[in-house]
Amino acid sequence: MSEETWAAVDAYLVELVAPEDPALRSAREESDAAGLPSIQVSTLQGKLLMLLARIRGARQILEIGTLGGYSTIWLARALPVDGKLISLEVDPRHAEVARENLARAGVSASVEVRVGRAIDSLRQLAEEGAGPFDFIFIDADKPSNPEYLEWAIRFSRPGTLIVVDNVVRTGAILDPSSQDPAIVGTRRLFDLLSAEPRLETTVIQTVGAKGYDGFALAVVV
Ligand code: SAH
Ligand code: DHB
Ligand code: MG
Repeated sequence: MSEETWAAVDAYLVELVAPEDPALRSAREESDAAGLPSIQVSTLQGKLLMLLARIRGARQILEIGTLGGYSTIWLARALPVDGKLISLEVDPRHAEVARENLARAGVSASVEVRVGRAIDSLRQLAEEGAGPFDFIFIDADKPSNPEYLEWAIRFSRPGTLIVVDNVVRTGAILDPSSQDPAIVGTRRLFDLLSAEPRLETTVIQTVGAKGYDGFALAVVV
C-alpha cells in the first residue's frame, strides 16, 4: 500500500465526511502563504480532535503548539458558548497568523493564544491557577513531550483526555539507539505513559495525507 493511496483515500473521505468550510480552508491557505511549515493536522485528524473534545464534553481545552491555528479552530468548534481554549505558541509570527485565522473562523472570543516557550507559559498558567482542563492536545517541540505530559497531568482532573500528536513518525520510534531528539523525547514519553498509574493509554496509528504517524490518547483515571 503506497503513500499515494493513503493520500487519495484521505482526499476521498474528506470530501464525503469532513469537507472544509471557507474558514478552515483559508486558515490553511493563509498559513502556507505566510510561509509557515505545512505540518498542521490533516482535515480528518482535525475533525477527529473536534469529535473527541465533543465526546469528552470539553469546556476547558489546552493546546501546546498553535502554528497557524488549524487544529485550534477544530478544537474551538467543540466548545460550548462559555467554553475556553488556551493555545501555547513560541513563535510570535505563527501566533499572529493564528490569531487572524481564528478571527476569520469566528472563534476569537473563546480562544487565547499565548506567546512564549510552552514550558514558561505552563508555569505561568499554574501560578494563575488555570485548569483543570478537560482536553489537552500536545503538538509542539517533540523533545519536550515528557515535560508536557507531566504538565498535562498536573492540569487535569479525572476524565481529562490527553492527546499527543506525532508519536509514531513512520516507525522511527522503534529505534532505541536513535539520536534524533524528537524520537528520544517520544520514546521517553512512552516510558512515562507505560509507568503512569494515573493514565489509561492507547495509540492510534494513522496513515493519510500526512503519511504514517499516530496519536497517543490517555485518559486520566
Ligand atoms: N497544532 C498545530 C500544529 C503545531 S506545529 C496544528 O495541527 O494545526 C508545532 C508548533 O509548536 C509550531 O508552531 C512551533 O513554533 C511550536 N513550538 C515549537 N517549540 C515550542 C515551544 N518550546 N513552546 C511553544 N511552542 C513551540
Ligand atoms: C512536525 C511537527 C508536527 O507537529 C507535525 O504534525 C508534523 C511534523 C515536524 O516538526 O516535523
Ligand atoms: Mg503535529
